[in-house]
Amino acid sequence: MRIFWQSSMILGLPGIDEDHHRLVAKLDCVCLALHGRNLPAAGRALDDFAVTMVEHFSAEEKLLADMGGGDSDHHISVHRGTADLVDRLRDAITIDQSLAKAEALAAELVNQWIRRLFHEDADLAAKVRDLSPT
Ligand SMILES: [Fe+2]
Ligand SMILES: [Fe+2]
Repeated sequence: MRIFWQSSMILGLPGIDEDHHRLVAKLDCVCLALHGRNLPAAGRALDDFAVTMVEHFSAEEKLLADMGGGDSDHHISVHRGTADLVDRLRDAITIDQSLAKAEALAAELVNQWIRRLFHEDADLAAKVRDLSPT
């Protein structure tokens, strides 16, 4: 499983789009290391991805809080679910040292990224656009 940046992932919010571009590249480094059966390299790549991910989620959650409204809970729960998945992947790499388990969890993370996170962020981008003066 690999993940590549695509123009369809652009949401029109420059800071968030730059973060997403970097995160997709970093997540693909994890996939590439697993593809090469190199668990130590996958662990290092995952740590690098996770640092950027935590910063990104916190920036988005600040934006959600600044915009107000009560519908940010689901978005935040998707972030938490992704962070949990990253923790499980780290355990598979560093504790279980199971390539098969790590590959399955990395595939789940890629799917989560494409199917759920971008969906939530697209809603966020639409909300920001609605609130922006024209
Ligand atoms: Fe998000
Ligand atoms: Fe995001």
